[in-house]
Amino acid sequence: MNTQRRLLVTGSLSGIGRATASGAARRGWSVLGLDLVGDRAREDDGVVTRHCDITDEASVRDAFAGVDEAWGGLAPHALVHCAGIYRFKPAVTTTAADWDTIVNINARGSLLVAAAAAERMLEGGEGGSVTLLSSIAAVRGDAGEPSAAYSASKGAVVSLARQLAVEWGPGGVRCNVVAPGVIDTPMTTVSHDPQAFEQVLGRIPARRLGTADEVARVCLFLASDEAAYVSGTVIAVDGGQSAA
Ligand SMILES: NC(=O)c1ccc[n+]([C@@H]2O[C@H](COP(=O)([O-])OP(=O)(O)OC[C@H]3O[C@@H](n4cnc5c(N)ncnc54)[C@H](O)[C@@H]3O)[C@@H](O)[C@H]2O)c1
Repeated sequence: MNTQRRLLVTGSLSGIGRATASGAARRGWSVLGLDLVGDRAREDDGVVTRHCDITDEASVRDAFAGVDEAWGGLAPHALVHCAGIYRFKPAVTTTAADWDTIVNINARGSLLVAAAAAERMLEGGEGGSVTLLSSIAAVRGDAGEPSAAYSASKGAVVSLARQLAVEWGPGGVRCNVVAPGVIDTPMTTVSHDPQAFEQVLGRIPARRLGTADEVARVCLFLASDEAAYVSGTVIAVDGGQSAA
């Protein structure tokens, strides 16, 4: 029997997802990625990413069929769901279409991917770990670069994860949330504006942005058996920002 740890990472081609996939590969885990642009192996860490649009049920179904095939029908031990989007958009100019796009990717996508992974973990009988990505935006308003739809979508992720932890816990599936602060990835626009950057740093007790690797390490802890009794919780990785 193959005992190598199997980790599925969404958003594996960029930022936190990429760092999580690479970190797991360095630990010797079997890693598969899902992202909008798929079906290629990276040269640096060998992680294969398959195409998946996380908002689309048929695409998620196809992607998981590919995952089943790649792992010979064995369920993933863990999912770290990093795919998501942020759009700077003041509330009064947010259209219904903006809302639907952001909430669908960040909240609906979280449910579709988590449910597909958990279905396999529950059926496989070994349980597993599901980690979803929320944000400091779920608990702190942002006067500088606000996005009401993004904040609401990330609040939804926390509520969703609590429900999933209770629903799937008896089957041995843990569900947790990582809530990053401002992390230096392609998603982060604030670092391009020097004045906004200084204001943001002033709100972070650590006085610096976080790195994708620093978030990835927490995601990998939750995905591992080191966190065997951790479920239904939110871990902030924000340099102390949510405590300030
Ligand atoms: N970077 C930050 O400061 C920060 C802060 C708080 C929370 N987060 C959250 O962490 C997660 C990862 O963020 P990141 O900074 O690594 O972002 P990123 O933009 O670097 O990467 C996001 C990835 O998600 C993929 N993606 C987007 N829409 C998709 C879809 N419909 N289907 C499949 N894949 C899709 C993109 O292709 C990309 O590879 C996100 O959920 C984000 O909201 C990030």
